[in-house]
Amino acid sequence: MNAPLIDPFARAITYLRVSVTDRCDFRCVYCMSENMTFLPKKELLTLEELDRMCSTFVNLGVQKLRITGGEPLVRRDIMTFFRSMSRHLDSGALQELTLTTNGSQLARFADDLYAAGVRRVNISLDTLDEQKFADVTRWGRLPQVLKGIDAAQKAGLRVKINAVALKGFNEEELPAITQWCADRDMDLTWIEVMPMGEDMGDEKRIGQYWSLKDVRATYAQHYTITDLAERSGGPARYVRLEETGQKIGFITPLSHNFCESCNRVRLTCTGDLYMCLGQEDMADLRGALRDNPDDPTVLEAAIRQAITLKPKGHDFDYSRQKADGTMSRHMSHTGG
Ligand code: GTP
Ligand code: 5AD
Ligand code: SF4
Repeated sequence: MNAPLIDPFARAITYLRVSVTDRCDFRCVYCMSENMTFLPKKELLTLEELDRMCSTFVNLGVQKLRITGGEPLVRRDIMTFFRSMSRHLDSGALQELTLTTNGSQLARFADDLYAAGVRRVNISLDTLDEQKFADVTRWGRLPQVLKGIDAAQKAGLRVKINAVALKGFNEEELPAITQWCADRDMDLTWIEVMPMGEDMGDEKRIGQYWSLKDVRATYAQHYTITDLAERSGGPARYVRLEETGQKIGFITPLSHNFCESCNRVRLTCTGDLYMCLGQEDMADLRGALRDNPDDPTVLEAAIRQAITLKPKGHDFDYSRQKADGTMSRHMSHTGG
């Protein structure tokens, strides 16, 4: 039995987020620039390399694997990878294999995902208005995503909606989105917009920041809310709305730092391991893997070494971003 991964602040690392592609069929304004340059395909880890990376993490005690992107379902042949990962569910080493998706390809893949052992998906949806949806994603089509959501539910996948809270954009839609999710028996998580990407210091982006303290207060005005102690293994804190019975999550990197209980690291599609979404500490694992294909202990040692670099917390701060431009990395690079 391998010793678990413990970081310098005594946090056990049991959750790996893996970005399998930097590409996406949408260009959400807070995530990508309109003219993103994507990596040449040869830079990406192959599906076999992704498999070896993830399997090594599972051997080192990772229990939750979340596949992200870009949009993970636009990576060619990605179902082969999901099917292969399901062996770790079968062996009991992995407790959860899941993904975060924009939903556009779910109508095609929902049944296959279920067959591979996926039981729930998080789907990003910031608005139910077709025109606003096209604006925030730059060209996404809402009906295609709604079809994907239906297909996921029909396939037996539990769906959680992720909505980025944007002042002046989806503020007024809060009751409608909440009710829409309740009607479909879906939980809903709100996310504070994080200052990432080259336009993170724009007045517009800063102006769109909507503290989830205010979102919570809005819920408290309209519903009876009960704090829940349960966590999903991710950063969200949850409340239950007594009137609808649904769970509402709050991911509050800015207004209520949750780094103290951080249990995760993120692997990019090129094999860099980022220790924190909001810091630059990283390690190149692709080199360790490619240079030593026959010796898994080299990769294991590189992972253990990387974990010693995990910082105490992120450094997001709207008041500072503009001045020093510390986080120009795009969200799609590390998969959120
Ligand atoms: P659950 O398993 O359902 O709890 O999902 P999750 O919240 O772990 O994953 P998801 O991909 O749905 O993430 C939702 C949002 O949380 C994304 O915007 C992520 O960027 C953000 N997030 C996840 N982990 C971290 C983290 O460690 N730090 C920060 N700042 N944000 C995070
Ligand atoms: N701030 C907060 N959330 C973001 N996401 C993408 N970019 C940002 C950002 N700058 C969200 C997406 C998706 C999840 C993976 O990350 O909406 O739900
Ligand atoms: Fe694509 Fe998701 Fe980024 Fe939107 S948030 S551009 S859907 S990766």
